[in-house]
This record gives sequence, C-alpha cells and structure tokens, in this order.
Amino acid sequence: MSQVILITGASSGIGQATATYLHQQGFTVYGTSRRKIDGMPFRMIQMDITDDAAIAKGVQEIIEQAGKIDVLVNNAGLGTAGALEETPLADIRNVFDTNVLGVVKLIQEVLPVMRQQKSGKIINISSIGGMMGLPYRATYCSSKFAIEGLTEALRMEVANFGIQVCSLLPGDVNTAINDHRLTVDKNDSVYQDSFERTHQIMNDDVVQGIPPEAVARKVFRLVKKKKIGGKYLVGKPLQKLTVFLKRRLPNSIFEWIIKVYYKV
Ligand SMILES: NC(=O)c1ccc[n+]([C@@H]2O[C@H](COP(=O)([O-])OP(=O)(O)OC[C@H]3O[C@@H](n4cnc5c(N)ncnc54)[C@H](OP(=O)(O)O)[C@@H]3O)[C@@H](O)[C@H]2O)c1
Repeated sequence: MSQVILITGASSGIGQATATYLHQQGFTVYGTSRRKIDGMPFRMIQMDITDDAAIAKGVQEIIEQAGKIDVLVNNAGLGTAGALEETPLADIRNVFDTNVLGVVKLIQEVLPVMRQQKSGKIINISSIGGMMGLPYRATYCSSKFAIEGLTEALRMEVANFGIQVCSLLPGDVNTAINDHRLTVDKNDSVYQDSFERTHQIMNDDVVQGIPPEAVARKVFRLVKKKKIGGKYLVGKPLQKLTVFLKRRLPNSIFEWIIKVYYKV
C-alpha cells in the first residue's frame, strides 16, 4: 500500500494544496477540517483539533481503514492580528488550543502508531513568525515559537524509534488566512493608526505571497527525503533573508528594520 499521510486543515490554503498534490503523487491522503467538506480528491475527515475526542476518533478511523499512518502534517492553524494589550484572552486561548495543543494532541495520538511501525515522519507547519516576533502578531508568533521548541525537543525523544520530526516555516503564502485571522477590533484604540498601517502591509504581503502549491512541493520533498533535518524555510528570498538577518544582526538594529518595514 502507498504511504498514508494525515494532513490537518485540508479544507483550504496550504493544507488543501498539499493534500491535493500528495494525492496526485499517489499517496493515500486523509485531510481534516472542522467543516464537513465534500468533493475533495482525497479523503476528508471532520475533526476539530481543539476537540481531543474528535482527534482520537479521527486517528482511530484512519487506522481502521488504512492500518497505518506514515506521515502526519500538522498544518491546521489560526492567525491573529492586533495589539496584545487589547486581544481578548478567549482569542489567545483559541489560538493556543488550535496552533499548539491541537498539534500536541495529534502527535500524542499518532506516536503510538508510529512507534509500533518503527517509522514515521511528523512535519509541523510553523511560520517565519516562529523565528521572530512581529508587531501586532504576538499571539500568533508565540504559538509558532512554541511549535519550534516542541519540534526541537520531540526530535530527540523519538529518534530512537525511527520517527523523524521537523518544522516547515513558510513566509507569506497567498491563502485565505487574512479572512480567517482573529482580528482585534477596538474603538478608540491607542494603537489604531499604527495597527492599521501594519495590518494593511500584513494583508498585502499575504496576497503577494508564494502560491500554496510551492509549500505543497516542499512538503512532498520532505516526505520523500530519507533523512530530514530539523527546520526548513519556504518563501520569497527576501523573507528567507530576514531570518538570516535576525540571527546575525544586533536585536536593536533588527527591530528597527522590522518597525520601519511595517510602519509601526
Ligand atoms: N498563509 C500564510 O502566509 C502562512 C505563513 C506561514 C505559516 N502559515 C501556516 O500555515 C498553516 C495553514 O495556513 P493557511 O494559510 O493555509 O490558512 P487557511 O487558508 O486559513 O487554512 C487554515 C486551515 O486550518 C483549518 N483549521 C483552523 N482551525 C481549525 C481547528 N480548530 N480544527 C481543525 N482545522 C482547523 C481550517 O479548516 P476549517 O476552517 O474548515 O476547519 C483550514 O483548513 C497554518 O498553520 C498557518 O499558521 C501560513
């Protein structure tokens, strides 16, 4: 049987493009989303990743049907925009439940299967925002920083079982993420002018981002690769350069560049 791949958040954007591409390459693909979606070329399972029972049931369903899970792509995620001071705690919990705890629960359900197989790959879709704090995205960036730490630690814990883990950090990708972001909408905000300028640039960058198919091809290469490393960037050269600069420049200079770019 072909390799079995589970991809969360396959109803739109990067997840849909990746699930479609891997299906076209001959893999057995199971996609998930909260909404019930018909008409995808790959199999869809309804699964809210903030619901532990739904995750356990979905993984069980795949094992019953396909008997194994070779690759887990943790892709489902939620963006945010707004000043941290004004972000409702309920929104922050929602983001961490989705972007962090949902990923943890999926890994916990899939690892026993992979340990028994003595093989498996886990690809966590993080973000360049997991390498640097970006203005008005404190919640989102901190959730992706969490994914970076989790990935680095987990790699060492499961390597002896033949399981490989990595994070894939996209820059801006042209998806519907702008429409799905939890955006703070507060009248008379002290951050209003600055936030509106930054928000516009943030949205424009997504529209001008790389197509989700480019991320799909990168995931495909990672699935095919015999031995994977810990972190991979995918995005426009300028955004990859930003990661390089973040590592090399003094913090004050890097922050100045980011603030000028986003017109904070
Ligand atoms: N687009 C970018 O510029 C960009 C850049 C870097 C990283 N990323 C990351 O890439 C991943 C995909 O983003 P995208 O741009 O493709 O966004 P998108 O088009 O908004 O897709 C998000 C997907 O996640 C699913 N989802 C959200 N909450 C969920 C939940 N609680 N349970 C199950 N599924 C859930 C959505 O499905 P339903 O709504 O149907 O449930 C949808 O399929 C995210 O982790 C994001 O942080 C995106």
